[in-house]
Amino acid sequence: MGGGFYISKFVGVVGIVFGAGAVATVIALAVVYSQEVAKNEALSPTNGGSTIKPPVTTPGGSTVKPQITTPVIPTTAPSNEPWDKYRLPDTLKPDHYNLTLWPRLTVNAQDLYIFTGNSYVVFQCVKETDLILIHSNKLNYTKWGDDHLAKLSALGSTPAPTIKKSWIQPTTQFLVLELNGKLAVGESYQLDTVFVGELADDLGGFYRSVYTEEGEEKVVATTQMQPTDARKAFPCFDEPAMKAIFHITLLHPPMTVALSNGMEHGQTSFDKTKKMSTYLLAFIVSDYDYINSTNDNVLIRIYARKKAIADGQGEYALNKTGPILKFFEKYYNATYPLPKSDQIALPDFNAGAMENWGLITYRETALLYDPKMSSNSNKERIATIIAHELAHMWFGNLVTLRWWNDLWLNEGFASYVEYLGANEAEPDWNIKDLIVLGDVHRVFAVDALASSHPLSSREEDIQKPEQISELFDAISYSKVPIMYTYLNTFAYDNTVYTDLWDHLQMAVNSTGTSLPTGQTVHSIMNRWVLQMGFPVVTINTTTGLINQQHFLLDPSTAGSWIVPIRWMNTGLVQQQIWLEDKTAIKPEMTVTGNNWILANLNVSGYYRVNYDNTNWERLLVVLSSHHESIPVINRAQLVDDAFNLARAKYINTTLALRTTKYLRSEREYMPWESALDNLDFFYLMFDRSEIYGIMQTYLKYQIEPLFKHFGNITGNWTNVPTGHMDQYNQVNAIRVACSTGIEECQTLTKGWYSQWMKDPANNPIHPNLRTTVYCSAIAAGGAAEWEFGWDQFQAATIAIEADKLRSALACTKQPWLLNKYLEYTLDANKIRKQDATSTIVYIASNVVGQSLAWDFMRDRWNYIFTQYGGGSFSFSNLINGVTKRFSTEFELKQLKQFQADNSEVGFGSGTLAVSQSIERTTANIKWVAENKDSVQTWFTTEVPKE
Ligand SMILES: *[C@@H]1O[C@H](CO)[C@@H](O)[C@H](O)[C@H]1NC(C)=O
Ligand SMILES: *[C@@H]1O[C@H](CO)[C@@H](O)[C@H](O)[C@H]1NC(C)=O
Ligand SMILES: *[C@@H]1O[C@H](CO)[C@@H](O)[C@H](O)[C@H]1NC(C)=O
Ligand SMILES: *[C@@H]1O[C@H](CO)[C@@H](O)[C@H](O)[C@H]1NC(C)=O
Ligand SMILES: *[C@@H]1O[C@H](CO)[C@@H](O)[C@H](O)[C@H]1NC(C)=O
Ligand SMILES: [Zn+2]
Repeated sequence: MGGGFYISKFVGVVGIVFGAGAVATVIALAVVYSQEVAKNEALSPTNGGSTIKPPVTTPGGSTVKPQITTPVIPTTAPSNEPWDKYRLPDTLKPDHYNLTLWPRLTVNAQDLYIFTGNSYVVFQCVKETDLILIHSNKLNYTKWGDDHLAKLSALGSTPAPTIKKSWIQPTTQFLVLELNGKLAVGESYQLDTVFVGELADDLGGFYRSVYTEEGEEKVVATTQMQPTDARKAFPCFDEPAMKAIFHITLLHPPMTVALSNGMEHGQTSFDKTKKMSTYLLAFIVSDYDYINSTNDNVLIRIYARKKAIADGQGEYALNKTGPILKFFEKYYNATYPLPKSDQIALPDFNAGAMENWGLITYRETALLYDPKMSSNSNKERIATIIAHELAHMWFGNLVTLRWWNDLWLNEGFASYVEYLGANEAEPDWNIKDLIVLGDVHRVFAVDALASSHPLSSREEDIQKPEQISELFDAISYSKVPIMYTYLNTFAYDNTVYTDLWDHLQMAVNSTGTSLPTGQTVHSIMNRWVLQMGFPVVTINTTTGLINQQHFLLDPSTAGSWIVPIRWMNTGLVQQQIWLEDKTAIKPEMTVTGNNWILANLNVSGYYRVNYDNTNWERLLVVLSSHHESIPVINRAQLVDDAFNLARAKYINTTLALRTTKYLRSEREYMPWESALDNLDFFYLMFDRSEIYGIMQTYLKYQIEPLFKHFGNITGNWTNVPTGHMDQYNQVNAIRVACSTGIEECQTLTKGWYSQWMKDPANNPIHPNLRTTVYCSAIAAGGAAEWEFGWDQFQAATIAIEADKLRSALACTKQPWLLNKYLEYTLDANKIRKQDATSTIVYIASNVVGQSLAWDFMRDRWNYIFTQYGGGSFSFSNLINGVTKRFSTEFELKQLKQFQADNSEVGFGSGTLAVSQSIERTTANIKWVAENKDSVQTWFTTEVPKE
């Protein structure tokens, strides 16, 4: 990208579309981008030029039998040696790799699926050393003639030192080579290895996914490297900053397709990659089909099972990828960096999707769409996930975080721009408003816990693979979108942490944007990024006194922020101010009479708002008399703030409950969703107590008009509401009406389901409504309804339909069926490994299944941990999900016992979740003790007397 970037160039293009705040983002990104491009160009690959060829395995060529050796583990290693540290030393830098992998899609004589490989890496010595550490996990090596695990040669004129000792260090996952002499600074060396690994079904590294097509079992060899599993596929310097160029060859049976990051040439090899991080590599062998198109010279392909492609399930993704890519090219002002963009749907995949450069992998549900089977929320998920992953092609892949502590930048940014990209793909959806529900509320909830972590951790705090996995939780994913909306209100936002504050400051200076006196981009942003949590701003409309406090469900720490406050008053006049100190007096924020103030207008800031009682009362009056005066997004926010402020004891719980009273006249999705999300907590706390009954009666009364409304506007449930959010709210109406016992609703759902049971080939239920209708019918039914659902689950030809049934099967009220279902979760032939933990969590969400799931999880912890542990997201979800109802001393005791009993086995990536669960349970116990009586009294008085 010669010619340089000119700031003024971007202002016009982007400013129109996204407002001033986003301009800075783009400028900042462009600057980073240009630096990265310059670096890439400066470092052209050094030519391997080596004459030493590693022993090669050939397809079908059983003549080369590598001698497999068991790794030697030195037992007397002193504990502070370099190989006992998790991070690589700064002595070596990889330049390029030449890697050949051969996955076997059938079992070998030992009944194992394996892959064999040979690889060399050319690296440069940047600091004198007599030690080579390179990551390697669960690989067995063929010994070379000198009896060592690798072969070292020099590319320069000075010969390489010989190897003194070589072994595997399993804890820190290194292949270690001690040398008899020193490597010379500035010299390049080549390290050759020949190895074998298991192509296990463990969803990490190079692994296998299995599915059945036309009665035939088929195996896909595929990869998931992020964060630290590339080392499970081949020895490599497996840290994000260790970028290199990769020459890849995949040996595979005829009639199968091999894919990797680069464009394939010939049957088995691929164009060399750009300079890239190991965690973005991908290797896949399958017998998939694809559909394709081109978008400005970029080849776009969607790969999936043959049947899925034949059924047209890849079409939606193909249709949307081109426009989204174009959008991002404009947004970043940079062309897509690769000649092709492959996206592939995998039957077994742990995360939702992974942004491997040029070969993005997805769960089937995140990529495949069928208008007859997929709901609007499935469609939205596909559009946003595609946008998210494509956004990473630049931000994350081209420009990469230095270490995992800055993950928030990578994920947060992608989580922000995914909405922009999806908005481009589906402009009618108002998708950007959903940021508040989807991400703001989620991260507010997690971030408020004391064991939450600041956005940026210190590099040395994040070392072990399981700690790295923990970072992939809601905080890293969601906090940054808030920062961006926050900055959208005002002026300038951030991108790459600290490095970029400078560039942003330049942008602020050049456009004359006003920051509070004496403050810089550094000073403002560092407070948001480096300290955990967020503030609550309290406005006293009688005195004009405004203050901020650290908002914590369990308040103990202190902190302050520089908060932008946008607000409006009764006259609907909008204004904005900065709150820089802990307190300030703002006379313009005092009101009298029936006048009111509403702050954090359009939820553009990352904070909660509390008011004096009088203003709260006035806002309640507005809600109950003319709620339309308050923007929809703020109605949702008022409810959410009230409930969370009550949790933190800023206001009474009954005040929060009172914000739901006006809902009888609310028809919009966002406030309803916000209220239902918050009432969920009341259900979790009370659905095993006597309060359950009156809560149900109250909610039934509240939802009735909404249910009738949707009956009316859909011609008695025969049409689909036109708006995207209305479609969502229709689902809420049915879900709540049925679960609170509105008879008309139950008759409707049972009728649809039994009609389907009579004629399984013709499902009469609209895809939007299936999840909730299935759940309601299975909950109301017995074994016959459940078994029918199970059969349909197994027969489903699209994962999206299977997923709806899988969640609905957890809705039965029959303990024996729930126990049977729990057993199924650990049988990979029944429930895929990728779905096991979420299925257990579904069961635990059912009040009948709660204790069954908890017993099950405790009982099988050892097994679950070894089978499903490792670097998966779902692991912490499991612990959090199964314990979320915990609210008694007895349950707390059990939880602590569980923690103690399994301290040996461990909790892996769920470690943080265990402490969060204990913390949450303690808070719940306190909350129930303090609120039970008033909640009971409130519902009792509010329940309509029949
Ligand atoms: C990579 O190594 C193989 C031998 O394993 C060799 O045939 C091939 O030419 C090498 N590729 C490059 C780009 O050096
Ligand atoms: C690696 O070696 C160990 C120990 O001999 C063995 O149990 C394991 O099966 C081997 N792995 C493969 C993929 O051959
Ligand atoms: C799609 O792939 C087919 C088969 O390889 C090829 O003939 C066609 O030109 C491709 N279409 C586009 C738009 O690239
Ligand atoms: C994809 O685009 C084509 C051509 O515009 C259209 O006919 C088809 O309905 C679209 N498919 C989906 C699933 O959106
Ligand atoms: C970048 O912006 C310039 C000026 O608006 C435009 O001419 C160019 O096509 C843009 N490049 C990309 C890749 O969007
Ligand atoms: Zn991401």
